[in-house]
Amino acid sequence: MSQELWTAVDDYLAQHTHLSDPVLEETLRANAAAGLPAIDVAPNQGKMLHLLARMSGARKILEIGTLGGYSTIWLARALPPDGKLITLECNPRHADVALANIERAGLSSVVDLRLAPALSSLEQLFKEGAAPFDFIFIDADKPNNAAYLDWSVRLSRPGTVIICDNVVRKGAILDPEHEDVRVGATRRFYEALAANPRLDATALQTVGRKGHDGFTLAVVKGS
Ligand code: SAH
Ligand code: DHB
Ligand code: MG
Repeated sequence: MSQELWTAVDDYLAQHTHLSDPVLEETLRANAAAGLPAIDVAPNQGKMLHLLARMSGARKILEIGTLGGYSTIWLARALPPDGKLITLECNPRHADVALANIERAGLSSVVDLRLAPALSSLEQLFKEGAAPFDFIFIDADKPNNAAYLDWSVRLSRPGTVIICDNVVRKGAILDPEHEDVRVGATRRFYEALAANPRLDATALQTVGRKGHDGFTLAVVKGS
């Protein structure tokens, strides 16, 4: 019942906020055709990320976890003409699908996809002086979320926005003994968030077509 209602409300909201877009719809179709898991952000969540990136005036965006590039396209569209987005993905099959979607969206010159485990790409970005990023979206393997948060702060400046997806997991995060390692990892992520003196954060639960989950939203303070 709840899921049916949440999905119906998401559909209503989508119809009344001009979310529909042939390129984004084709991206989701291509992802499904390639057998990618349907764990992209929902359309209204993608638009939220897009608006937050625009509101923050982001010129340089980092995304950890590309999948088929659905959230990548929403975020890259928030950039000014000379903006850049670097997205990290370790699965070559996902990367192939994403690159085709990004090409179809006309964003190949804006998006730099790094095909490697994210932890090594993050170290590489640090070494090559790619920082600071203005906006960072964490949405890859959940066991590394605390490490991704730490790297995000290292690759930031005061004012950088850091968003992390899937931080509620149907409320499973309340269970310290949960069998799913992603749940324990999310609890460790919150501990890292709370303990980091450089971050000012909040967290929001969401319901909708992707079920019951949530985002954390943080801004990096002056050092
Ligand atoms: N942000 C996407 C969804 C990402 S799903 C969207 O909303 O459209 C998570 C992605 O992270 C998957 O494609 C998975 O292959 C990738 N991933 C998992 N572990 C990773 C790692 N260690 N390094 C880089 N990418 C990883
Ligand atoms: C999972 C990952 C995601 O990024 C997501 O949005 C939903 C689920 C997962 O690993 O289960
Ligand atoms: Mg996610």
